[in-house]
Amino acid sequence: MPKWIVSAIEQCLQDVQDKPLLLRERQTFSNYLFSRRLPLGDSDVKKMYREIEYNILAKKYGDLETIDDEFEIEKRRKIIKGEAVNKLKQCVYDWKPIEYNAYKSYLYMITRSVPEYAVLDTIFKEIQLRNPTFNPKSMFDFGSGVGSVLWAALERWNTINEYMGIDISADMCDLSEKIISLHPKKYKKAFFRQFLPVSNLQHDIVVSAYSLMELESAKSRLEVIAKLWKKTNQYLIIVEQGTNAGYKCPHKNPCPRLHQNKGFPCNFGIQYMPLRLLGPQRQNFELYSYVVLKKGNPTSEDNWSRIVRPTLVRKNHVRCRMCTSEGQLEEVVVTKSKHGKPFYRCAKASGWGDRLSIEPNPSYEGADAVVVTPNENGESDISASFESVDVSFKEEDPFAAGYKEAIPRPEKLKRGKNNLEPSDIESQDLKPIYTSETPYVSK
Ligand SMILES: C[S@@+](CC[C@H](N)C(=O)[O-])C[C@H]1O[C@@H](n2cnc3c(N)ncnc32)[C@H](O)[C@@H]1O
Repeated sequence: MPKWIVSAIEQCLQDVQDKPLLLRERQTFSNYLFSRRLPLGDSDVKKMYREIEYNILAKKYGDLETIDDEFEIEKRRKIIKGEAVNKLKQCVYDWKPIEYNAYKSYLYMITRSVPEYAVLDTIFKEIQLRNPTFNPKSMFDFGSGVGSVLWAALERWNTINEYMGIDISADMCDLSEKIISLHPKKYKKAFFRQFLPVSNLQHDIVVSAYSLMELESAKSRLEVIAKLWKKTNQYLIIVEQGTNAGYKCPHKNPCPRLHQNKGFPCNFGIQYMPLRLLGPQRQNFELYSYVVLKKGNPTSEDNWSRIVRPTLVRKNHVRCRMCTSEGQLEEVVVTKSKHGKPFYRCAKASGWGDRLSIEPNPSYEGADAVVVTPNENGESDISASFESVDVSFKEEDPFAAGYKEAIPRPEKLKRGKNNLEPSDIESQDLKPIYTSETPYVSK
């Protein structure tokens, strides 16, 4: 993370009265955010209730229709309802919006700004690699929080001369304004609003980072995504935590990893160094899931399979565990004799999150952005693509290019107390450490 941001954060923290409390609550808050699930819609809750009621009925009380005594039927109905409601309360995730007051905004800043910066920097770097002539002039950031999207974008592109951050929390807006005022080049083009503007003024990059989970229903999420898409001139980027709630697939079929395999969906990981002010430096690991949607026509590469586990490079062959565009898991063993030297080399160099044409294709250069196709009227209706799945996610190799030097690929990490291998990450980290039953309580 650039020095100016670290010193801006330190400077902002001087305003906090109970800093030790903030530091103590950090881990609990981080666990709570990671374990957060999407709120269930009314119809989901009703469906769940009916299933629970049916099970209780079948197991304990038999068929009420066989009973003649109306008083007895009513009595049993009441008992069943009571039991079903109690069971439902245990099963349903009690989603509540997080209201970011000043204290929680500071807590968010010290807890999440570094991993989020690392993830956003990786995504922006990938866009720049694939589109080096792209020089965005304007940016729109939904749920802008402390402003990590802007910080990462300004480090990548110095062409951004207009930034609009939308955050419902006035305290968050104040904090992000304060941090950006400490930018070394005195960046004066950042504006903050609490609500989405009505105008359809378009921006070169539109981002929603870790904000969709804060919306109360699937309907509101879809509406926001549709609005953001209208505001997009070139790229729309959606980022969430790499959890069961935050993941999405790049195809429209059910996630095969979630449904057929171990119950763990696709996600990607990145290592980062936490802020020094939080104590002794130790590498941390962040799981994330994201999609980059680009306006334009799709190319043949959009049907390529995606590598969903680290590539296994073995003697004379490479194993690529992939998810195809039809949503099937496939393991392809690539050898020089079967696939040709260029494709073998390409498979060997590819990594977790890259896309690969199963047919040998020497021109492969890695993954490309998901492209949304315009309809017959020339409009590209993003919400239509989101009806069957929430978001068509693109997940790319976080360990590509520049990060290769700084961060070892996950399969090369040494097994140790703080260094997890991918299999460990799936089995340990995806299980909420801090569950909904133990909600985060703050002052
Ligand atoms: C988890 S934080 C996102 C952090 C942010 N991307 C960053 O870089 O710091 C989610 C943010 O969304 C904001 N938010 C929640 N509901 C919102 C809404 N309906 N409209 C705008 N912002 C909203 C919250 O106040 C919070 O700051």
